Amino acid sequence: MSTELKEEVRQRYAQAALRVGSESDGGCCGGGGGCGEASFGSALYDVDERGELPETAVLASLGCGNPTAVAELREGETVLDLGSGGGIDVLLSAKRVGPTGTAYGLDMTDEMLALARKNAAEAGVANAHFLKGEIEAIPLPADSVDVVISNCVVNLSTDKPAVLREVFRVLAPGGRVGISDVVAEDRLSEADRAERGSYTGCIAGALSKGEYEAGLAAAGFAQIDVSFTHEVADGLHGAIVKATKPLPA
Ligand SMILES: C[S@@+](CC[C@H](N)C(=O)[O-])C[C@H]1O[C@@H](n2cnc3c(N)ncnc32)[C@H](O)[C@@H]1O
Repeated sequence: MSTELKEEVRQRYAQAALRVGSESDGGCCGGGGGCGEASFGSALYDVDERGELPETAVLASLGCGNPTAVAELREGETVLDLGSGGGIDVLLSAKRVGPTGTAYGLDMTDEMLALARKNAAEAGVANAHFLKGEIEAIPLPADSVDVVISNCVVNLSTDKPAVLREVFRVLAPGGRVGISDVVAEDRLSEADRAERGSYTGCIAGALSKGEYEAGLAAAGFAQIDVSFTHEVADGLHGAIVKATKPLPA
């Protein structure tokens, strides 16, 4: 079942990658309105950020927040974006960390990786690298990343505890998480979430705030904060998720 669901997710976002820039719905998370909605896509970035990148990279945004705005990236840092899609957050991160830093994007969908690499070439960004793989088994060594970001992807995972364990593994001690995601209010059951939208549309698979906090704590994180930013459906919100991998005692 989880393999089938993952394949459905992959197919939806392969199609979305191929449709970027066309007149039809770009395949954003959410229900009807797609990327034209204020809740999803490039509307969540400010005008200056959008101006830093080629139009195709901006149009390729399918997220539900702006993780680079919360991650407070510094020169020289190594950043990893889980489910990097068309690459908007990787390209913005690459510019923030500068030539002495590195920004990795990780995605399982070939069509998205091709789009992201094209956008990076057009943007002239040399310190952005796109890796093929799954966020449940990150193809990077332990303790090798300063910051993990992600934009509307963890909700799509069929094994969220594995994702949080992997994020903890690849982060260096003291490293931090700055994730945008769809998160449910604790009052919503799994059935309530499924009534409000599809799994591939980033709604049915959303964790609740309490589940996210407990999952991060179980993976070993400290300084955990899950804050709602904007409602995307009844009881479901775009949210910022922050946490830190503690330094050894
Ligand atoms: C909603 S889009 C968001 C893309 C990008 N973060 C953005 O803000 O535009 C979800 C992306 O995550 C990728 N994805 C979903 N599940 C994944 C998984 N388990 N492992 C790796 N990539 C995944 C999809 O291929 C797609 O590119």
